[in-house]
Amino acid sequence: MSETRTNPRKDARWAWALTGSGHFFVESLALIASLDPVDLFVSKAAEEVLRMYRQELPEHLRIYHDLSASAVPVGRFYEGRYHTLVVSPASANTVAKCVYGIADSLVTNCFAQAGKCRVPSIVFACDTSPEMITMAPRGPVPVYPRAIDLENTDRLSRFEYCTVVETIGALEQAVAARKVELAAGTPADG
Ligand SMILES: Cc1cc2nc3c(=O)[nH]c(=O)nc-3n(C[C@H](O)[C@H](O)[C@H](O)COP(=O)(O)O)c2cc1C
Repeated sequence: MSETRTNPRKDARWAWALTGSGHFFVESLALIASLDPVDLFVSKAAEEVLRMYRQELPEHLRIYHDLSASAVPVGRFYEGRYHTLVVSPASANTVAKCVYGIADSLVTNCFAQAGKCRVPSIVFACDTSPEMITMAPRGPVPVYPRAIDLENTDRLSRFEYCTVVETIGALEQAVAARKVELAAGTPADG
């Protein structure tokens, strides 16, 4: 059978999906600003969390909101318009759905359709250790991810075409490594 991978166009962009996790939410927004060109896909929960953290989406970007049951904008992955998907921060909810192949929202559809188009994903999963400190709107709070949350993060890390990172530093490194691959014209493999 011939190669059926959806080849990215020459003008392919980064796709960045924001979920409603407050964990390194502000830092993720800062990293988005360092990418060009990039389109944003924003979950309904992320729209609310943005307001709670008193953040705003960058104005100059193309932004897709979660407005349709069938996640219409995600068709863009099938047109080769994206070379990479970043999901950051990724809530425990979104990670769980992705692990089980559920695609019932804009962001879970981005992940599912990117996988089906063999577009590599980088996912910054929030629940990575049994005891963590996270930034709530009013300051840092302790959080104790459950076994199921940790198991889901681990399972996602074994998905094809998917790199799971657990710290903001690792996210920065994964994005930098992908930039190098793209500059060299090297496709990421599964
Ligand atoms: C201020 C705030 C911070 C939140 N932080 C987290 C978080 O760090 N991790 C997480 O998994 N969920 C967090 N949530 C809960 C998610 O927003 C919620 O599970 C939501 O359903 C996720 O939807 P999404 O995955 O479609 O974006 C937070 C909610 C609020 C209001």
